[in-house]
Amino acid sequence: MLKVGLLGAGRIGRVHAINIAGHARSELAAVADINASAAEELAGLYGAKAGSLDDILADDTINAVLVATSTDTHSDLIEKATAAGKAVLCEKPVDLSLERAKLCLERTSGNGQPVMIGFNRRFDPNFAAVKAASLAGEIGKAELLSITSFDPAPPPVSYVKVSGGLFRDMMIHDFDMANFIMGDLPTSVHAVGSSIVNPEIGAAGDVDTAVVTLRYADGRIAVIKNSRRAAYGYDQRLELLGSEGLLSANNVMMNTVSKSTNAGVVSAKPEFFFLERYMRAYVAEWDAFVAAVLDGANIPVTLADGVAALALAEAATQSAKTGETVEVSL
Ligand SMILES: NC(=O)c1ccc[n+]([C@@H]2O[C@H](COP(=O)([O-])OP(=O)(O)OC[C@H]3O[C@@H](n4cnc5c(N)ncnc54)[C@H](O)[C@@H]3O)[C@@H](O)[C@H]2O)c1
Repeated sequence: MLKVGLLGAGRIGRVHAINIAGHARSELAAVADINASAAEELAGLYGAKAGSLDDILADDTINAVLVATSTDTHSDLIEKATAAGKAVLCEKPVDLSLERAKLCLERTSGNGQPVMIGFNRRFDPNFAAVKAASLAGEIGKAELLSITSFDPAPPPVSYVKVSGGLFRDMMIHDFDMANFIMGDLPTSVHAVGSSIVNPEIGAAGDVDTAVVTLRYADGRIAVIKNSRRAAYGYDQRLELLGSEGLLSANNVMMNTVSKSTNAGVVSAKPEFFFLERYMRAYVAEWDAFVAAVLDGANIPVTLADGVAALALAEAATQSAKTGETVEVSL
């Protein structure tokens, strides 16, 4: 049985709490949050203790820590938890700063504790099926990947200001998806960004609409499109064109009913947002982490994967500012 300390009782911490408590081989032992009442409330739902970070790190019966705190705390908490002998699943991104994330990788790589990064979309059954079909050679050589990732509505500007920007906060998932599907890192990044959804996002120094092109050493290309607004809901699709065919993963709809009349054909909207769309992915992600820690299975998304995605986010941020293509090497 994996006994788990959860750090962060916010939006995503609550999702992880459900999955930790609901898994046959894990138990939510304790919850810590700088907002003590949030920790107490969440711990109370699952019969767990509410405590401090230090309580969790000092408790030898706790063998894993899930980091679901704000992004600027991630590297510090990964280092502290692994130094205390805990396996770690940390939410994306590894840090707001690439340099700090690289330092975290360097400091923790020798200590023998597994660290997994929460790129949950790799566990989405649709995207996982694209990867499996591509690996099996079902469309020949994959040559062009297109990722569409639109949020239903922009976040508050107060969130944008502390998020690290669209490339580090939002497109980071798509950079990791490109790395996962293409099985390699690109050698160059070109980004174009605008703030046309909400000019206040632009005034805060960020973009809300962006297109990024990734080029690989062997000539393959990936294109990522992000928007903070899609009037019809959360749009999460990808297409992989290969020498012998095309793989497409489409949106998951709220229901499967379509209405066909003289006026046309109408179906339900896509699942509302990430908590709904990726619920199965969060469950599968947790299951993979439990298997890695208890059974010694491979860590499917490593800290190095987290650093790689952040390197692309940083390159895209720079490219969108300068208009130049940025070469990447890790
Ligand atoms: N993988 C995903 O789909 C996904 C989705 C949402 C958020 N996230 C990531 O998860 C992290 C949290 O996001 P959120 O939306 O849940 O934020 P949130 O603000 O709802 O929750 C964060 C919680 O962490 C607590 N906290 C902050 N610093 C802390 C510290 N040092 N020690 C203990 N608690 C601390 C806050 O009080 C808050 O309760 C972010 O890094 C975000 O990028 C990932």
